[in-house]
Amino acid sequence: MSHNILITGGSGYLGGTLLAHLSSATNLPPYDKLYALVRTPEQASSVRALYNAEPLTIDLSSPASITAAIVDHKITIVFHLFNPVDTITPPHFIRALAQVKKETGVPATHFLFTTGAKLFSSHAGAPTDRPLRDTDPNLYAMQKAQVDAAPHFAMGRGVLANNLVIEAAEEEGVKSYIFAPCIVYGKGEGFGNKISIQTVAIVCAAKALRRVYRVDEGRPSWPVCHVSDTVGLYLEMLRGMLEGRELGHGRQGYFLASPGSVGWEEIYEVIGRALKRRGLVDDEAVGQADREILGKMAEALGCGREWVGVQVGGRCTFTAGHGKQIGWEPKYGPEHILEAADEEVEWILANMKDGQKIGNMSEKRD
Ligand SMILES: NC(=O)c1ccc[n+]([C@@H]2O[C@H](COP(=O)([O-])OP(=O)(O)OC[C@H]3O[C@@H](n4cnc5c(N)ncnc54)[C@H](OP(=O)(O)O)[C@@H]3O)[C@@H](O)[C@H]2O)c1
Repeated sequence: MSHNILITGGSGYLGGTLLAHLSSATNLPPYDKLYALVRTPEQASSVRALYNAEPLTIDLSSPASITAAIVDHKITIVFHLFNPVDTITPPHFIRALAQVKKETGVPATHFLFTTGAKLFSSHAGAPTDRPLRDTDPNLYAMQKAQVDAAPHFAMGRGVLANNLVIEAAEEEGVKSYIFAPCIVYGKGEGFGNKISIQTVAIVCAAKALRRVYRVDEGRPSWPVCHVSDTVGLYLEMLRGMLEGRELGHGRQGYFLASPGSVGWEEIYEVIGRALKRRGLVDDEAVGQADREILGKMAEALGCGREWVGVQVGGRCTFTAGHGKQIGWEPKYGPEHILEAADEEVEWILANMKDGQKIGNMSEKRD
């Protein structure tokens, strides 16, 4: 039996770009049907017209609805791209995938869960004093210990979500993957949201305060990745699943999509220059945020003061290696985000909605 694929979050920045690339990819092994989870009739028309994908509406609050959608359509591969702190729906998707495997006799069914590099950073209580490799065999044990140690409750939930995916998939005999995007930049190519998260947050706060501010002490760095390379890793993994290749799954199934890291300070500087060129900040030099500034940034971002650092700073030493092991070759090096900053700012300004807020992690994605 050929595979049937379900992509969720197709109206989003990553999911939309993934659908655009997937539907036009000419070098993927054959599969049967491509389904896209939608929430509105407009989204249904878009995915049908633009990507030749079959729209699927699922009541995600109902386990029965999830099971019926997966089992009735014999879906064998699910890519989850809509909420990194989702501890509710993954076990239901996974159980349904196990049922499809049993009923159809396919050799394997697959569940890919999109998390975020934040869950492997200082914000979530991960170690940052050394490179943390996505091939490290102890990542699952490390994440287990992070759940209660994470400095932010929502971060603990995000880590818990990753662990639950692995545990449910192990129990049900489904192959699971924890896919971590990082600071993603570049033009979104989907029909819905066309802009990312962290670069947007920096621009949003700087516009409101008329200056870019650093929020950390020292010079922390963070992994970065162009959106087309991030999507390239999703596609390389999909190719492996369709070919029946072993990619490394479950406790050994972590994938960071990144060619390397860049200092926040460098990112702030290039964004500050791009905003100054457009007259949107008074001073292109990066300032140091104090308590009062953090309060104003929180207001601009629509989140609590304690969340500002989570949105636009932090220390993350997560290091990619797994993607390259399965054949993923990113086109852009990490420094490209600095070279492309002017274009990124232009794109954000053109696509940001009036009064757009970033919100807290859990709030924005629900
Ligand atoms: N972009 C990044 O830099 C980045 C970095 C790290 C992690 N991530 C994670 O990757 C995932 C995708 O990111 P993104 O940038 O594509 O986000 P996005 O542009 O905000 O898109 C979010 C998508 O999720 C859908 N969605 C939201 N709540 C939902 C719900 N309750 N049920 C079903 N669908 C729901 C949205 O559908 P509607 O359009 O119908 O609202 C949209 O398709 C997110 O989990 C995000 O946290 C992203």
